[in-house]
Amino acid sequence: MTNPTLKFSNAAPAAAAGDVLVVGISAVDSKLKVLPRSITAAQAKKLITTLSALGATGKHGEQTRIPGTGIASATSILAVGIGAETSTEQLRQLTGDVTRNLAGNKKVSYALRDLNDQDAVAVAEGAMIAAYAFNEFRNSSLADQKLPVSSFTIFSAHASKFLATEISKLVSAIHFARDLGNTPPSHLPPAEFVARVKKAIVAKPITAAIWDEKKLVAEGFGGIMGVGQGSSRPPRLLKLEYKPKGAKQHVALVGKGITFDTGGISLKPGLNMHDMKFDMSGAGAVVASIIAIAELGLKVHVTAWAALAENMPSGTATRPGDVLKIYGGKTVEVLNTDAEGRLVLADALVKAAETKPNYIIDIATLTGAQVLGMGLRTAAIMANNDDFRSEVHAAAQAAGEDMWPMPLPEFLRNEINSSVADLANIGSGKGGGMQLAGIFLREFVAKQTPWVHLDIAGPAYNQGTAYAYNTIGATGFAIRTMVELARRISNK
Ligand code: BES
Ligand code: MN
Ligand code: ZN
Repeated sequence: MTNPTLKFSNAAPAAAAGDVLVVGISAVDSKLKVLPRSITAAQAKKLITTLSALGATGKHGEQTRIPGTGIASATSILAVGIGAETSTEQLRQLTGDVTRNLAGNKKVSYALRDLNDQDAVAVAEGAMIAAYAFNEFRNSSLADQKLPVSSFTIFSAHASKFLATEISKLVSAIHFARDLGNTPPSHLPPAEFVARVKKAIVAKPITAAIWDEKKLVAEGFGGIMGVGQGSSRPPRLLKLEYKPKGAKQHVALVGKGITFDTGGISLKPGLNMHDMKFDMSGAGAVVASIIAIAELGLKVHVTAWAALAENMPSGTATRPGDVLKIYGGKTVEVLNTDAEGRLVLADALVKAAETKPNYIIDIATLTGAQVLGMGLRTAAIMANNDDFRSEVHAAAQAAGEDMWPMPLPEFLRNEINSSVADLANIGSGKGGGMQLAGIFLREFVAKQTPWVHLDIAGPAYNQGTAYAYNTIGATGFAIRTMVELARRISNK
């Protein structure tokens, strides 16, 4: 989709033309107050008179729309209640809510409160991320769609063209990942995923290397091949690299890219199987993250690995009981073909480690247990290194993404012993499924390399109704955190 435009301005909000001017209000001693000082006393007085007549209370999240006539140049004004204790992330979410509600309008500006630096970024991100729709597959229903807002002005004393450009770059990467996630399975097999990424990196300082099925077999990528061999649409391994001059640290990002997960021979039940088109979200996130990091020119060496396969149950698919040889030589007994993400990731983790990165992060919609345990909006952070796990968590909190640490308890390790191979791909089924998957992956990472595993099965896509800046479907989760982390690492 075409991305919205963004600018910051320190001009007078009321003078700005456009469809809607969004103004923050609150209730102080049950009297309405207009929050930004850039709205003059005279304008505020008129605004409050009209809002009071309509029964506005100024409570957090309340939205009241009035004509702009007599107060502002914009066609209408949307007064939004903002609580005194509203955090930066709440402001980002509130701006997202407002922006989705204003779909159908083109030009919207925000004078929410006197924004500090962080608030200004949050409002811009909330608006830009919320202004997304996936209409590629609509035809007769397209005319009924209210299109997302296409142009934003954020009123802030911290007006900065540079900042607007930076946020636009980040958000266009997020929207690219959402487009990939939302694209239906037969329209985005592994080869097509690669083709789209190649197109997206043209003229960017990123190089690509691709392993097709012949090369994957020849070089011993038994995990990716084993998962992909049941599909007529063959698997791929995609490597992207961004290596700016002066970079001191190298971060390898590894993403699970199952373009559709039927479960394979261990077939999933039909209910909600369609959600498994999002099973490539980890790969989408790592690809979008390296694009954003390169676009922002961050001084950190990044490699991004997308392990791409379609998990289908055809006659040539891997069968339960089969043994696969992962890249590098470890063997895995496949007791359940639906635990496929860890198989493709194992190959890619071993390959990524060959390039001697300082840090490895994998991102995957890996387990249903993640969703059961932590819900739809919080991701799990697991690691072989407490400090690095904390660093990733701190970056997530700064970026406004909800993640929480989870343990990889030693007592679970024996559950993935196999009677015939080095490892089995599932445990006893007596709980701890998310952690077991993490423990399985840890077997493919050297102890001395700080490694984090993000299970984003819940937050990768929004299956309910739209909320905050998330529309229904792919969310682009984890990209903001990866960019924030890269920023922090580049300053080391
Ligand atoms: N892609 C799924 C995990 C998933 C489930 C993501 C629901 C998002 C929502 C993964 O490949 C899978 O099927 N995992 C199995 C593992 C099990 C067989 C050990 C699961 O979690 O059921
Ligand atoms: Mn599966
Ligand atoms: Zn899967």
